[in-house]
Amino acid sequence: MAVERTLSIIKPDAVAKNVIGKIISRFEDNGLKIAAARMQLLSQSEAEGFYAVHRERPFFGDLVKFMISGPVMIMALEGEDAILKNRALMGATDPRKAEPGTIRADFAESIDANAVHGSDAPETAAVEIAYFFPSLSVYSR
Ligand code: CMP
Repeated sequence: MAVERTLSIIKPDAVAKNVIGKIISRFEDNGLKIAAARMQLLSQSEAEGFYAVHRERPFFGDLVKFMISGPVMIMALEGEDAILKNRALMGATDPRKAEPGTIRADFAESIDANAVHGSDAPETAAVEIAYFFPSLSVYSR
């Protein structure tokens, strides 16, 4: 298995619930390291640019509005098989469909306020890491 990096965002709902530490513990307890981290209130254009692939989707406006409603914790996670591991830890996008014990099952309320974002493939991880951490390589050295 390859050592990978992936982008993770703890969304405004989870930050407001004061569960940043609990979510980061899930990553650390499962062999993922924080390679970079920054807490930030995104601007509208930053959120729109990040989610540009969803621009034509009906939920795009609400998604951007939600993502700028409060600070987010942006991280690059690193570890063996980090992209898939992070997605397994997060659970399904819709928390009602997320497996028990996953981050979204335990901390999320709805498909919009779904606690975390994680890159879904190596290509998106590279683009998303470069978007928020331009000086960080997608590969660990
Ligand atoms: P995320 O993994 O951050 O990627 C896009 C986000 O859009 C997703 O999590 C959800 O929070 C949000 N979203 C809202 N409605 C939908 C939908 N019908 N399908 C997928 N994502 C949705």
